[in-house]
Amino acid sequence: MTDEVRQRKIEHVNVALGQDVSAPQRASWSDIQFVHQALPEVDLDAIDTSVNFLDHTLRYPIFVSSLTGGHPDVMNINRNLARAAEQYGLAIGVGSQRAAIVNPDLAPTYAVMREHAPHAFLIANIGAPQFIPQARHVAFTLEQVQCAIDMIGANALAVHMNNLQEAAQPEGDRRAVGAAAALKALTAQVKLPVIAKETGAGVSREQAFLLRSCGVSAIDVGGAGGSSMAAMEAERSRSRGD
Ligand SMILES: Cc1cc2nc3c(=O)[nH]c(=O)nc-3n(C[C@H](O)[C@H](O)[C@H](O)COP(=O)(O)O)c2cc1C
Repeated sequence: MTDEVRQRKIEHVNVALGQDVSAPQRASWSDIQFVHQALPEVDLDAIDTSVNFLDHTLRYPIFVSSLTGGHPDVMNINRNLARAAEQYGLAIGVGSQRAAIVNPDLAPTYAVMREHAPHAFLIANIGAPQFIPQARHVAFTLEQVQCAIDMIGANALAVHMNNLQEAAQPEGDRRAVGAAAALKALTAQVKLPVIAKETGAGVSREQAFLLRSCGVSAIDVGGAGGSSMAAMEAERSRSRGD
């Protein structure tokens, strides 16, 4: 299990770099056009781009979602993203910390972010399937969740709801019954704000209401037009002849 998770981390990065893993639904950014103001009557230096996000001031309304960690070769990615987040005052997430929970030797590949971004709004990351018992492993305990938070001195915890990804993953977890109840129990017990996120297929309106009733503080709606982790897993399955 330890080596399996570690190996998957590097494969995700390599697949994302080498293949087209974009989500099939388009974000349609080209449909949006700003109306130009020829006489703006505002000084450029007076424009304040800062926003308040979960009681933290970001210098720009930019959020780098959970990406990686869990393999020595991805440490540089996290180091570079952390430097950017620190320099520009952004919010930033680490990838799923399951790898370091099952193998604490991998903790530095995540902790490197806090080292290089001491003031950034840093977000821990655990998968919703890990909160319920799966065929191949038991559910994470609250202590293990706290360990992920402490590993990076997190300001918030992201819970990724990646059941589509797990379904396409050669070694994926297949159980989702009970995840909403587990999420509700988690938000009641964890002291940090909990952010619900998907991994490239988005969140529907109905599920957003369900998530709100589970007590989450924010929903990361990234998914249309970006990378799809289900597409990445499909690619990994294909490369194994599945
Ligand atoms: C290489 C790679 C690894 C990722 N690993 C994780 C992860 O470990 N945990 C997670 O919650 N999301 C992970 N994601 C998903 C992203 O956080 C994000 O949800 C997804 O890319 C959709 O957002 P986008 O439209 O901005 O690309 C990963 C994405 C990529 C490209």
